[in-house]
Amino acid sequence: MNQPIVIAPSLLASDFARLGEEVRTVAAAGADWLHLDIMDGHFVPNISFGPMVVKALRAAAALPFDVHLMIAPTDPFLAAFAEAGADHICVHVEAGPHLHRSLQTIRGLGKLAGVAINPATPAEAIAPVLDMIDLVNVMTVNPGFGGQKFLPSQLEKIATLRRMIDATGRAIRIEVDGGITAATAPDAIAAGADTLVAGTSVFGAADYAAAIASMRPAG
Ligand code: DX5
Ligand code: ZN
Repeated sequence: MNQPIVIAPSLLASDFARLGEEVRTVAAAGADWLHLDIMDGHFVPNISFGPMVVKALRAAAALPFDVHLMIAPTDPFLAAFAEAGADHICVHVEAGPHLHRSLQTIRGLGKLAGVAINPATPAEAIAPVLDMIDLVNVMTVNPGFGGQKFLPSQLEKIATLRRMIDATGRAIRIEVDGGITAATAPDAIAAGADTLVAGTSVFGAADYAAAIASMRPAG
């Protein structure tokens, strides 16, 4: 199933002293979604920001807010992110024993549901919940920090997921997250990804629009 490529800049690499302005600028530069990385210092060894910041930014742009929860536990915070203005809520398969319940909750809140998988987790881990998700986030770095190097070892997993998803006939997006640049995006897309999260390669560029355009396939 071929869906148009979505580019989702990750706010993690933006200037936190000017968050609202960064959101407006990247939206005007052609971002399709905004990716918001939530880190708790427990599930990942870094802390970013929480639902209050998501809520404060909601009015800055109309584009979908793609919220990536790198927190454990997740369930006590799902409603807060939904109320803050998340459009997609993505939870890690490794974050706890009750992934199915978390996905039920997200759908019950009326949001699109995603599952993120760490580099050491196999594609098959999400097979039992494929009927409950709209998005899979394949981590192409170890979660916790921006600016890391893309892990080519994840390409095979992307291809496996592509086959698993196509077999369902459902339009589940495959998002790649970590180390995505104009150089690594083509391999991820060739393997079957259709949604590119990019932090450093967008917010670290002088021209956000050019950086976003450089990751879109030609034609
Ligand atoms: C990492 C985050 C990513 C991060 C990507 O834990 O999930 O979304 O912002 O940053 P870059 O594009 O710099 O690798
Ligand atoms: Zn992310």
